[in-house]
Amino acid sequence: MSSTLAFEDAVYLLDADHKMAQKQFLDYQGLCDDGAPPGARQQLALKICQDLSVHTQIEEEIFYPAVQQAIQDDALMEEALSEHAEAKEAIARIRAMEPTDAGYDDTVIQLGMAIMDHVMQEREQMFLKARYSTADLRGMVPELYARKKELQTGQPAPAPAGKKEMAS
Ligand SMILES: [Fe+2]
Ligand SMILES: [Fe+2]
Repeated sequence: MSSTLAFEDAVYLLDADHKMAQKQFLDYQGLCDDGAPPGARQQLALKICQDLSVHTQIEEEIFYPAVQQAIQDDALMEEALSEHAEAKEAIARIRAMEPTDAGYDDTVIQLGMAIMDHVMQEREQMFLKARYSTADLRGMVPELYARKKELQTGQPAPAPAGKKEMAS
């Protein structure tokens, strides 16, 4: 279902991205195991990079600041942001490489392992703390969803339904 209604709260929306990333990295490993041609490996690697860039951006713009406001945990936020910074470096390296370059597959697979570690950290710490905090996880869904679509398509998304005329 491609609507905000598919996601009960922000954690569900973000964890759906995590599950998709995990599947994509497994698929990438499968391509390597099958000796898939460079073009096929690069196509998937660049899709992974794009999806992860969108995911980290909506977390940094919307989810992390809202959670930080509620839980006030500087160390947890700094750790998450430094893991994002490392992922962005790996993404930049992958984008700059050719799939025939030595180390291309290893760079993608190492990114996958780093991302899965980061996902575990988010699930076991940040998401749990967010769920037990005052952060409005349900209220964040339309904004996360709209920003994700906007970043994916390069087009501004229409304002989330029901949000526009609420103020007056
Ligand atoms: Fe993250
Ligand atoms: Fe995440």
